[in-house]
Amino acid sequence: MSTTTASAPSAGLVAARATGLGKVYDDGGRRVVALEGVDVVFRRGEFTAVMGPSGSGKSTLLHCMAGLDSVSSGSAAIGGVELAGLGDRQLTRLRRERIGFVFQAFNLFPALTALENITLPMDMAGRPMGTWTGWPSSSTRSAWPGG
Ligand SMILES: Nc1ncnc2c1ncn2[C@@H]1O[C@H](COP(=O)(O)OP(=O)(O)OP(=O)(O)O)[C@@H](O)[C@H]1O
Ligand SMILES: [Mg+2]
Repeated sequence: MSTTTASAPSAGLVAARATGLGKVYDDGGRRVVALEGVDVVFRRGEFTAVMGPSGSGKSTLLHCMAGLDSVSSGSAAIGGVELAGLGDRQLTRLRRERIGFVFQAFNLFPALTALENITLPMDMAGRPMGTWTGWPSSSTRSAWPGG
């Protein structure tokens, strides 16, 4: 995948940014270039769809920009924070507090309900759900599987 964005919004409007992002996998000695020179900006409050054929690097881009995978070249930043400059603990905290992720392969904990899977990061962060404005009402919640 290789993209270029047209305009450059001011830093305060940027939720996440990739600059010259590259990702190369070593697939058993075979070099797989999944991303090369990707420049993209995700603005605050916007909904963005990343589209492309299977194998074009969509998941790789999202993994690199969410701090789930390392980048091979270039940079990825969330809210102005450069991910490459963070240690494991800082990355864990940033992912827990700033990013929500619905994985292609779900990665849910089968022992938990759907709602518990969603609220798990908040529980781990020690934040009562009452402080979260997105908390569903009891009527909505009762319609959830296991909710
Ligand atoms: N862990 C890995 N090791 C080696 N190659 C990988 C790895 N993960 C992805 N790739 C390769 O990187 C390229 C991009 O894969 P990626 O999964 O990002 O594509 P995608 O656009 O998300 O595809 P899909 O639409 O099928 O989900 C593909 O060639 C894929 O085979
Ligand atoms: Mg994918």
